[in-house]
Amino acid sequence: MPDYDSLHKQSIDYPESFWGNVAEELLWFRPWDRVLEWKYPYARWFIGGQTNIVYNALDRHLKNNNADKLALIWASQDNQEKKYTYRQLNEEVSKFANGLKSIGIRKGDKVAIYLPRIPEQFIAMLGCLKIGAVHSVIYSGFSAEALKSRIEDVQAKALICSNAYPYGKKTVESFKNVKEALKDSKTVKDIIVVKRTETNIEDVDEASVDPKKNYRFHWWSDLVSKQDTVCSTAIMDANDIAFILYTSGSTGKPKGVIHSHGGYQVGIYYTLKVSFDIGSEDIFWSTADAGWITGHSYMLYSPLLNGITTFIYEGTPTYPDIEIWWKLIEKYKITKFYTAPTAIRSLMKFGEEPIKKYDLSSLKILGSVGEPINPEAWLWYQKNIGHSELPIIDTWWQTETGMFMINPLPYTKSKPGSAFKPFFGVDADVVDEKGVSLAPTKSMSSAPGASQRLLESSKNMGKQGFLVIKKPWPAMLLDVFNNPQRYKETYFEKIKIAKTKKQDSFSDFCYFTGDSAKIDEDGYFWIVGRNDDVIKVSGHRLGSAELESAFVANPKVAEAAVIGKPDEVKGESIKAFIILKQGVEPSDELKKELTLQVRMQIGPIATPDEIEFVEKLPKTRSGKIMRRILKAQELGQPIGDVSTLDD
Ligand code: WTA
Repeated sequence: MPDYDSLHKQSIDYPESFWGNVAEELLWFRPWDRVLEWKYPYARWFIGGQTNIVYNALDRHLKNNNADKLALIWASQDNQEKKYTYRQLNEEVSKFANGLKSIGIRKGDKVAIYLPRIPEQFIAMLGCLKIGAVHSVIYSGFSAEALKSRIEDVQAKALICSNAYPYGKKTVESFKNVKEALKDSKTVKDIIVVKRTETNIEDVDEASVDPKKNYRFHWWSDLVSKQDTVCSTAIMDANDIAFILYTSGSTGKPKGVIHSHGGYQVGIYYTLKVSFDIGSEDIFWSTADAGWITGHSYMLYSPLLNGITTFIYEGTPTYPDIEIWWKLIEKYKITKFYTAPTAIRSLMKFGEEPIKKYDLSSLKILGSVGEPINPEAWLWYQKNIGHSELPIIDTWWQTETGMFMINPLPYTKSKPGSAFKPFFGVDADVVDEKGVSLAPTKSMSSAPGASQRLLESSKNMGKQGFLVIKKPWPAMLLDVFNNPQRYKETYFEKIKIAKTKKQDSFSDFCYFTGDSAKIDEDGYFWIVGRNDDVIKVSGHRLGSAELESAFVANPKVAEAAVIGKPDEVKGESIKAFIILKQGVEPSDELKKELTLQVRMQIGPIATPDEIEFVEKLPKTRSGKIMRRILKAQELGQPIGDVSTLDD
């Protein structure tokens, strides 16, 4: 058991040598000249270095005799199975990459991927990176509208999608969304369609989809079958764009978070390796979806960078029945299992009997991500899935951070509900609005009278404040696509760190996470939740502004304000306050209509739980809706400072 605190201190005192050593474990076409350069507000890692995520995720394993090891196992919800060794996966990826080239996709081109959880989703992502194209994955549960706006913002030249796919008892006819999204599209030139079901094939033929011939249509199987199984991996600069992933912020439309080939792979490779104690025989199952960052970093890329087997299950946690997850863990001998608190809480409802029927002894480590895990769910998870002893790795991170930032390690002492301390090389803190640290120091607790003071301030817990990161880390976002101003304002202008006497080269670095947290006297971090208008429903990230604009798109609605409310299972639920246009009568039918409207505009994950019709909304004099006040009122909490309120 290494001494975590001293190793951590060393890693943040010398981040360049720390991350430089990690990067040596991976392959580079050309070594870097400098590990890190920070020029407000951009950090660039491994400058001068050349690599490619795929070079390390696939090619490296073919070179070091791992070619016949399983890279990917896929289980469908109708009992099919597909297995790919590293060699086979590389061949599939190469064929697809050659297919992309054959339709004119080149290095730097943007490709949108709108696929369900099937192997082609991963093959498409890897195929893009192999030739240096930039992928932008759009969650398959998003609506036509959401798909369209992302395709347009990223200026995608090609779209990869499926005709339809099974989802629990339903069949989702996702191609309908594609057709709708591509109407009048000026950017997409080619679409490549995977046939996942036999259901709606007649609607998906070439002639009917695009009478105006705006784009070319290809069945995936036709395009790929004629391609060569060899394709050279493109040489990329460390800071070239690997992918863009859209995520919700506190204002406006979702933003395109950009990640690199170089720093990103170093960060995700090492965080998983250390935090989940990765060994060569591991079979890792992340229950996420590639539509979200977890599906990029820890379902696909990091397991392959680490040369292990990644497992994906197509279905939901409760289909065909509520035992499916435990059945799959037994069948595939999963060793590391990574899921979200919402899933744990919803499976807790069914009690322990369904779990006891299965042999879960292959499991060695469990993980959690996406929202704070409450101690009750933590303890249940460890007792019932983790044979009362497995480490629970609660990982705090974000789309923007790319990699785990705060999490325990298998050998550190846990406190259920706390995400432990920052990972190596990550300099995190909790500060007030002036940037002054709120962490209780050890010296405070040992000074005379200090323990008394700490007790008064709520059980040796520091005050709640803003969670910030004070030094760059390798997997941090490169920028916000097409919007550098928003990048700067969102992450670097909210808080200016209080200058200390010790000025180092990072004295103007203070990345604002948007989360609130507390640090206890042992240095453990307790994540409270978002402090902006981002709502986390079942771990899915949604912005109040996006939801509001979906409501306001209905001609009967004058204004809307949306808040997140605590929910026992989903973490947060969505409540909307609606002002109707003059002459429109409130009714239950109208509530149903609006609910449908939001589902159509964003997708089923955004379904509002409550709608309340109101006459007025609290606003500042400049007309900004104060959601904070609505929320406080809704939860029966003090309303706070209302001096800027207009009415
Ligand atoms: C929240 C997901 C508490 C947090 C990887 C963050 C968490 C947001 C945790 C990012 C955790 C994520 N404990 N809260 N272990 N993990 N969050 O971008 O509010 O979808 O800011 O990335 O999820 O959500 P995102």
